Amino acid sequence: MAAQAPLPLPLLLLHAVDCTGWEPSPHTWVAVTAALDPIEAARIARFVFPRDARASACGRLLLRLLLATVLAGNEADPCGLDLVLHRTERGRPQLADPAPGVDANISHHGRWVVGAAIGCGSDAPDARVGIDVVTLAVRGLDCNASETDALSAVETYLTDFASVLTPAERAALRSPKLGWRARVKTFFITWAVKEAIVKALGDGLAYGLANIDVALADGGVLADMELTRGVVEPLQLSITLSGKVADGWAFAVGALPTDDELVGDYGASVVALAVQSADMLPPEPIPMVMHHAADLLQSR
Ligand SMILES: *[C@@H]1O[C@H](CO)[C@@H](O)[C@H](O)[C@H]1NC(C)=O
Ligand SMILES: *[C@@H]1O[C@H](CO)[C@@H](O)[C@H](O)[C@H]1NC(C)=O
Repeated sequence: MAAQAPLPLPLLLLHAVDCTGWEPSPHTWVAVTAALDPIEAARIARFVFPRDARASACGRLLLRLLLATVLAGNEADPCGLDLVLHRTERGRPQLADPAPGVDANISHHGRWVVGAAIGCGSDAPDARVGIDVVTLAVRGLDCNASETDALSAVETYLTDFASVLTPAERAALRSPKLGWRARVKTFFITWAVKEAIVKALGDGLAYGLANIDVALADGGVLADMELTRGVVEPLQLSITLSGKVADGWAFAVGALPTDDELVGDYGASVVALAVQSADMLPPEPIPMVMHHAADLLQSR
């Protein structure tokens, strides 16, 4: 059989899995764990709650699908069944047989598992991607809360999470120009971008979020960005890491699909991608490839 042509480089893939209502039968569950390697399967067997085990299994299946797609060309294994994954010392999954410029990362939140993969080839052999998903909402605060009540609830929330932010970010969030929904939106997008950076850096919690400063490169307001459902769009951010301007990063942000009518994006689930060491994000929006958890197994 002729080898499939390699996908063009650089490549960035974004997939989202909706786990709503996914309750695999015992038979299906055997197939799910059989699709993973024994170490992954053992890890998943240790979860106390089946829901957590399912979300984790979904993440592992998605990781394999993403890596296999980036490494495409191997028709015998289009789904990553034969991929051997190791973990780095810090616990990050990695191809046992590394390919230059290939990396993937996964994030879980509520009903969603999202994952991104990059294929940069030898132009950027050490390129890394990090992904995070958050919901733009404060627990207990519904979207119709009155401005005064909501502002004070949001202020309390931001105080509780002040350690995530730099002083400049905290000051910007308190601008009287920002209503409460705009504050929530700015806060969570900032947080998601930071988590994505930390995940791309791969240092785990060693890198404090308050050492990362995130601002729009043109000095604009994050809350003004339009979040398109089902795609991520490149975002020009200026980033400092421990006080030093960090070059060579690219970012993209977008929202997961929803059936709800949202006021000021309140309640939207947002995906942030950070790619290190490459001018490799395409300038156009990147569509999210959507799956349902049940289909993920069938794709293999
Ligand atoms: C908010 O108000 C709108 C319009 O009155 C209503 O349709 C919606 O259900 C309300 N949402 C919540 C969470 O109360
Ligand atoms: C994503 O990146 C973080 C940070 O390096 C790592 O801990 C996690 O294991 C990664 N997840 C996957 C599925 O690659």
